[in-house]
Amino acid sequence: MNSETEALRLIHESLSSNGDTTVLSNCYRKWAEHYDADLQSEKYAAPELMVEKLNQYLCQSNDFADGLGSLHIVDSGCGTGLVGAALAQKGFENIDGFDLSDEMAVKAQQTGDYKNVSGGLDLASAKEQLPAQSYDIAISCGVFTPGHVEPIQVKNILPLVKKGGLVMISARVGYDNDYGFGRCMNELELQGALKILTCMSNYPYTSDENANYYLMQKQ
Ligand SMILES: C[S@@+](CC[C@H](N)C(=O)[O-])C[C@H]1O[C@@H](n2cnc3c(N)ncnc32)[C@H](O)[C@@H]1O
Repeated sequence: MNSETEALRLIHESLSSNGDTTVLSNCYRKWAEHYDADLQSEKYAAPELMVEKLNQYLCQSNDFADGLGSLHIVDSGCGTGLVGAALAQKGFENIDGFDLSDEMAVKAQQTGDYKNVSGGLDLASAKEQLPAQSYDIAISCGVFTPGHVEPIQVKNILPLVKKGGLVMISARVGYDNDYGFGRCMNELELQGALKILTCMSNYPYTSDENANYYLMQKQ
């Protein structure tokens, strides 16, 4: 495992990178090897919690009745693949992922839970590289967080998703307050781009902060 001070330094570096993709890439390149162990120490609950809530919603919905295995899902900012592992455990089989960091993406591919993983892919240009409107669900965990991407970048996820498809995103409570994630989603809803189905507020994220989990539908 990373030493505690090195892990804290990398967490701090990533959270204070102001969305600079070069700084973020370098940070996650160094972190890829120890990321999973470090996040386990931080009691990172978000991937499993998101997948559990997504699964509950799908089980109650008539619109997705063909079974989880048939649903095409994209994990935006997949990192080392913690979300893919949680999805695979629930029976999702058709999972793609992409990440800014090549080294994190290689780890995700190695899990065997993803069909295709693209490394070195910035969310800002994902819509140019990935097939348009081809996913039933987009999930993004731990990416809409300080220093990473701005709330408005949800607009770069929407083109990947079919009309009526789901978009599920975690936003740390502090990020939601400081960056106005919820406000931005309300504006996108007013513009007719998406509908907010539910927001689970103040649920566990890491040992030191909770998050708000947004489940939305592309309009
Ligand atoms: C805290 S990690 C979360 C990874 C994974 N989703 C998880 O929950 O473990 C944040 C991830 O976002 C990726 N990332 C940051 N900025 C990005 C961007 N602009 N486009 C794509 N991925 C990005 C990082 O490389 C990193 O893998």
